[in-house]
Amino acid sequence: MAASKLLLTDFASTLTHIPHNYIRPTSDRPNLSQVDLHRPIPLIDLAPLHDHTHQNRGNLVREIGLACKKYGFFQVKNHGVSDEVIDGMMRISREFFELPESERLKCYSDDPSKAAILLSSFNVNTEKVCNWRDFLRLHCLPLEDYIHDWPTNPPSFREVVGEYSKNVRRLVLDLLELISESLGLDKDYMNKALGRHGQHMGINYYPPCPQPDLTYGLPGHTDPNALTVLLQDDVPGFQVLNNGKWVAVNPIPKTFIVNIGDQIQVLSNDRYKSVLHRAVVNSEKERFSVPTFYCPSYDAVIEPARELVDGGGTAYTSFAYKEFYDKFWKRGLRTDESCLDMFRVNN
Ligand code: OGA
Ligand code: NI
Repeated sequence: MAASKLLLTDFASTLTHIPHNYIRPTSDRPNLSQVDLHRPIPLIDLAPLHDHTHQNRGNLVREIGLACKKYGFFQVKNHGVSDEVIDGMMRISREFFELPESERLKCYSDDPSKAAILLSSFNVNTEKVCNWRDFLRLHCLPLEDYIHDWPTNPPSFREVVGEYSKNVRRLVLDLLELISESLGLDKDYMNKALGRHGQHMGINYYPPCPQPDLTYGLPGHTDPNALTVLLQDDVPGFQVLNNGKWVAVNPIPKTFIVNIGDQIQVLSNDRYKSVLHRAVVNSEKERFSVPTFYCPSYDAVIEPARELVDGGGTAYTSFAYKEFYDKFWKRGLRTDESCLDMFRVNN
């Protein structure tokens, strides 16, 4: 009976054991008792962005540079996205997954070129072991090209999510300037390097799981895009790898988690690393998260910034972002090796 349902949302709560195709081999399990629950991940105050004092901006740039180098991850507060926009996004995420199955399934598709697709796991066509997650994925840029193909139910979906995506885009553009400056590059370097830019969003739903030690919401992976801005609700589950140890990033209300993706790793010629992260599940509470994946346009040619190619040479060959993304999508989420290795210069 369970197997005939397409989405975990519609059968997870009936299970006392997870189906065999969700069980990870013993060598690849979350080992939840070994996660570091207390290592702090930097929380950066973006207030100086809005007060325009030159000196404060300099400190902020240094702080961002340090976080990118040491962690590849940081959290931000005073980011300029209002509580109302954030609360609206979280509310609509819940409302969408609470819709009747027949209504949600109108978006069910595994064609990633569509403006809005609803799927379970990651890529159901290529994976052997499934992830304890359902997700809606939306193309957001240019918004007017896609918004008309987004869900119309809940009725305020397009308005609320459209507004959220515009707000997060503004934040990303600020962050790209700070990151460029922190690398000693022109403020608009990253902006230009991303060509016509792309933006996608996910709404991830992780239902309660009867055996959270045996499976993942999402296994360890790096993000294939340039920069990710993650909004999570108040249920823990997001973890990053830091100095060889998985570290829980405990939710702080009204903050975002920002991480360097594979493309900034390339553009920075490995100065900044795209760091492994994962989502784990728990037996008690459902969890929602909303990642924004900001990326180059498919035609943008990505290569290390010339200014950052020194004695050690260039770490990567040039490639069009489309080549990279196609490989990523086909290959699936892999903890053992990065898609970046395929574009690395062997020296
Ligand atoms: C992702 C991701 C983490 C989370 O969607 O790429 O890392 O907590 N999500 O949902
Ligand atoms: Ni990710």
